[in-house]
Amino acid sequence: MQQRHILLAVTGGIAAYKVPELVRWLQRAGHRVRCVMTPAATEFVSPLVLQSLTGEDVRSQLLDAGEEGQIGHIALADWADQVVVAPATANTLAKLAHGMADDLVTAVALATRAPLLVAPAMNVNMWEHPATQDNIESLRSRGVRFVGPEAGELACGWEGVGRMSEPSEIGAAVDLSLAGESLSGEVVLVTAGGTRERVDAVRYLGNRSSGKMGFAIAEQAARRGARVVLVSGPTSLATPAGVRRLDVESALEMRDAVLAEWPDVTIAIKAAAVADFRPARASDLKIRKEDLADGEAPTLELVRNPDILAELCSDRGARIVVGFAAESHDVLESARRKLERKGCDLLVANDVRSTTTGFDSDMNRVSFIWPGGENEELPTMTKSEVAEQLFDRIEKLCEGRR
Ligand code: CTP
Repeated sequence: MQQRHILLAVTGGIAAYKVPELVRWLQRAGHRVRCVMTPAATEFVSPLVLQSLTGEDVRSQLLDAGEEGQIGHIALADWADQVVVAPATANTLAKLAHGMADDLVTAVALATRAPLLVAPAMNVNMWEHPATQDNIESLRSRGVRFVGPEAGELACGWEGVGRMSEPSEIGAAVDLSLAGESLSGEVVLVTAGGTRERVDAVRYLGNRSSGKMGFAIAEQAARRGARVVLVSGPTSLATPAGVRRLDVESALEMRDAVLAEWPDVTIAIKAAAVADFRPARASDLKIRKEDLADGEAPTLELVRNPDILAELCSDRGARIVVGFAAESHDVLESARRKLERKGCDLLVANDVRSTTTGFDSDMNRVSFIWPGGENEELPTMTKSEVAEQLFDRIEKLCEGRR
């Protein structure tokens, strides 16, 4: 693998104790690493440790003639193929969001043309504060990637979101960031998983979708440099690196989440298994047998859910919209009719009766159905490979639109 230059910018949080391990991880992946620090960071991890590990001088002062003489901050910014801020404190995030440059880390981040990856670490209340969330949103909209933070026990004694991601996670996100950026500038919306339609306080109508296909698609889009938002039904799958995830339960919630994102989206992929029907009335309390006459079973009246995909297609503008079709019989013909009916650019059809592929499996066997009726049948492959194949086709559609 080609050796890349990673500039690791360390700011002042307790998570800095993980930085030596991160340096090692990046070096093992074949990268050359240099560290810069804020003065506060030097209180948490010794510059000498990082200097010994990297074999490079470690700078922590912006206005130190001696340090600037060794290698100037602009030269450092130019040297980097990738800048990683880890850990990133709330204060540094705020400064990055506003383009401030009053310490070495923020000055380098402002001066570099390399992509920026940020691994935040802070107290859960600082993380959830609207000021921090606004700063994150503003950085994301400028193409800055984030990894973490994770939920767990925090050094401050609180439990919640705020732990810096593990070095292996940050390393994986660096690799993603350095990989091809063929979808850079695109905003990809992916829906995944099955929806749950509430019956009463404890019951719902659901389906067998695991979400694996949609998550693999979101991961692949992020790998290719897109900004990705993943609207997911309930699942225990981990969020892929660099992906913003919105959790929803019902079809109506999924529709609201999707429509709220719609103005920014350039490519939409609807892999979710959306329930077509929901109970006309959901009870806030549990329906108990003792409230019913002897031997009586309640009757569920169902109403139709909106067809989100059809709605998106009717307001798609220049967007590319891809649908999925879950079919149990007559797969190609039924999928062709579905594509016509919904009006999407491409439909991915799968036969849900197969026991070796489809629901909950890591494998899938799909056909791509094109407007006009042409179809491509793919062999059985992993869901990640299906996602790659899918984006190879979508990129061609993008080229056709330019
Ligand atoms: N879909 C949707 N909203 C719905 C139902 C489906 O957006 N209420 C989307 C799915 O995400 C998928 C595509 O439409 O991309 C096809 O879903 P599928 O369940 O195969 O088809 P349906 O439209 O529900 O038709 P049917 O169940 O009658 O085959």
